[in-house]
Amino acid sequence: MAKLIDGKAVAASVRAGIAQEVAAMQENDGVTPGLAVVIVGDDPASRTYVNNKKKACAEAGIYSEEYALPATTTQQELVDLVQTLNRKQDIDGILVQLPLPKGLDEKAVIEAIDPSKDVDAFHESNVGRIMIGNFHFLPCTPAGVMELLRSENIEVAGKHCVVVGRSNIVGKPMAMLLLHSNGTVTICHSKTQDLPAVCRSADILVSAVGKAKFITGDMVKPGAAVIDVGMNRDENGKLCGDVDFASVEPVAGYLTPVPGGVGPMTIAMLLKNTLAAAKLHCKAEEK
Ligand code: GUN
Repeated sequence: MAKLIDGKAVAASVRAGIAQEVAAMQENDGVTPGLAVVIVGDDPASRTYVNNKKKACAEAGIYSEEYALPATTTQQELVDLVQTLNRKQDIDGILVQLPLPKGLDEKAVIEAIDPSKDVDAFHESNVGRIMIGNFHFLPCTPAGVMELLRSENIEVAGKHCVVVGRSNIVGKPMAMLLLHSNGTVTICHSKTQDLPAVCRSADILVSAVGKAKFITGDMVKPGAAVIDVGMNRDENGKLCGDVDFASVEPVAGYLTPVPGGVGPMTIAMLLKNTLAAAKLHCKAEEK
C-alpha cells in the first residue's frame, strides 16, 4: 500500500515559511513583494486558479493585483499591459494565466515579460538558465514536485526517473530538475515504444499527460514513488489525475493524490518565486 504524500500539508508549511520571510522583508527593507495576475477571457478553470493564487498571496502578505481582460483583447493590448507591468515598481512578478483565448500568441506574450519578473519561468531566457543550472526561478509545478520528493526524503540521485509527457511547462523542466538532482532520466511521450515497460522500470514515475487514469497498476514497479501531475475529469465529471488510483495505490511505495498532491505545491512555488523576484529587485536597487 502506497504512502500518500500530503501536498496540502507540505504546501502549508512552505507558505508559512514564505509568510515569515515576507514579514521580515517588510520590517527590514520596507518592501512588500507584489504579483500581477493577468487573466484574459472567461475560462472557468483559469478563473478558479487565479482566485486561488490571489488568496494565497494575501495569506502570505504578498501584494497582488488582478487584470481581467475580455476575450476580445488584442495581442497589442495584452503586450502593452505586460510592458506597463514590466515598468511598475511595486510589481515583482507577472503571471499571465494560460491558456489564452484563441487568436492570442502565448509565446509572444511570454517573451514580452521582463525575465526578472517571469515568476512562471516560462521566458526563453529563464528556460535556458534552468538548462544550465543558473536560475532565479524554477517553474512552479516541477519545483513543487521536487519539494514533495524532498519532504519524504525520497532519494533521486542514481534512481531511474521516468517522466511521461514532454510539455514545456511540466515534462521538459521536470526532467531537467530530476537530472540536476542526479537522477537517470527518461522522458516518454506519445511515440514511446512499450510505454508500460519503460514506466515499470521507474523508481520515480512522474505523469504529466493530462489523460484520466492513464497510468495503471501494471505500469508501476512495486515500491516506486508515483507523482501525479494530471488534473482531469473522469467519466462522472469528478476531478482526477493521470494515475488510476485504485490499481496503482496497492503497488506504489508513495503516491500523490489528486486533488491534494501536486496542485497545492504549484501555488506555494509561485509565492516562493514572487518573493525571490522581490529579493532580486531589492538587490538591483542597491547597486
Ligand atoms: N495554466 C495552468 N498552469 C499554469 C501555470 O503554472 N502558469 C500559468 N501562467 N498558467 C497556467
